[in-house]
Amino acid sequence: MIKLEVIIRPHDLEKVQELLSHAWIAGITVSEVKGHGRQRGHQGTYRGAEYTIDLLPKLKVELVIPEPLVPRVLHELGSRLRTGKIGDGKVFASPVDDAIRVRTGERGEEAL
Ligand SMILES: Nc1ncnc2c1ncn2[C@@H]1O[C@H](COP(=O)(O)OP(=O)(O)OP(=O)(O)O)[C@@H](O)[C@H]1O
Ligand SMILES: [Mg+2]
Repeated sequence: MIKLEVIIRPHDLEKVQELLSHAWIAGITVSEVKGHGRQRGHQGTYRGAEYTIDLLPKLKVELVIPEPLVPRVLHELGSRLRTGKIGDGKVFASPVDDAIRVRTGERGEEAL
């Protein structure tokens, strides 16, 4: 199993949620976070005034999926989220050793 952590602009959540219509995505966790990437939170101009802030509000979407689905999900995420503008977001992938559905005691992929 692989956990994808997808850091997006808050208004891009809908684009990620479109993925949930696919039966192969079981669950999702969304957190409000703050962060910056390479631009260090610099947003340029807003209503005519230059301003700089260090941390921008972002959403972190966590998906734990079977490893064979990773290429497909990355492709789907990219096609929805990529505008070519800075701040389109980032995906981190990491291994997940186990999962447990508490109600039934199912383990591993059965628990997703
Ligand atoms: N190396 C990192 N470690 C942890 N979080 C990161 C890292 N890079 C980006 N993030 C998180 O992802 C969010 C979105 O990053 P962002 O899309 O701006 O990446 P970027 O590397 O600056 O690319 P771009 O040049 O396209 O903006 C950041 O606000 C931050 O929350
Ligand atoms: Mg950036």
